[in-house]
Amino acid sequence: MRTLRTIREVRAALHEPRDSGQRIGLVPTMGAFHDGHLALIRNARAECEVVVVSIFVNPTQFGPEEDLARYPRDEAGDLDKALATGVDLIFAPSAEEMYPAGFGTTVDPGPVATGLCGRNRVGHFTGVATVVTRLFGIVAPHAAYFGLKDYQQVSVIRRVVADLALPVEIRAIPTVREPDGLAMSSRNVYLSAEDRAIAPVLFHALQATAAGFASGERRADRLLELAQRRLEEAGMAIEYLELRDAETLGEYTPDRGAVLAAAVHLGGTRLIDNILLTPPRVPGLRGQNLIPGKVTP
Ligand code: PAJ
Repeated sequence: MRTLRTIREVRAALHEPRDSGQRIGLVPTMGAFHDGHLALIRNARAECEVVVVSIFVNPTQFGPEEDLARYPRDEAGDLDKALATGVDLIFAPSAEEMYPAGFGTTVDPGPVATGLCGRNRVGHFTGVATVVTRLFGIVAPHAAYFGLKDYQQVSVIRRVVADLALPVEIRAIPTVREPDGLAMSSRNVYLSAEDRAIAPVLFHALQATAAGFASGERRADRLLELAQRRLEEAGMAIEYLELRDAETLGEYTPDRGAVLAAAVHLGGTRLIDNILLTPPRVPGLRGQNLIPGKVTP
């Protein structure tokens, strides 16, 4: 496994494998690896001859009041885990390499980025879309791997790839959870012991709505109430709790695939999670937690 810092080195390293027809997979990350990141890497390993993982805490996707400065960083630990999981190339650039003097282009994904997380995190998805587009330009992967934990992020990336006709296949990987159901996240380290014990209620609340849907309820207000009550009882402050079309993130219509997505605040920590209420119809989007009560994997 090689760790590269510059675009020039990445291009040089990929020249030969690309010319010889090898499939290149990219896993974009901000580091501080947990089993969610490793699941993306394992999927890339299974499908590609060359696995490239980028580690870059992207400043342009953090708001001024957000946690850029204290975002967890552990490059040495990440390199050990990457090596053990079968990564070929790590790309860990500096901020100057990613945003050199004169950098001026941004990628605005449009309406898919304005609701849910985009409502309060203004500019967040433009930062994500811009850095991911630049990574696609640097690595030119055949496939790129993203986690459904960040459901809207996957929708944003699919939108950008379709709109800009980027020649990359987007693979979406189910959410990896702690045994108690909490979605793994680099930010879970921010939780106090007390809040960590409460945090799984987020997923359990979403499962309550999924169970309501599975038993035939289709009215949005009734479905949302099932989750809302549980979140409030646990002392979580709801930033959003919304039913959306699973494919477009547009308006919920009961006869189409639906996703329930939430962001809550617990102590000082923001947690997000989502659950699909119907089997996905989006190509490459494999089922996640479709059966209420069953936690995958
Ligand atoms: P980061 O939060 O490091 O996540 C990297 C990838 O891991 C994302 O695709 C994310 O959805 C996925 N992931 C995180 N937690 C997961 C879990 N519990 N199960 C499955 N996958 C999980 O997301 C980002 O970085 C950045 O926005 C990035 C795309 C790298 C752009 O800067």
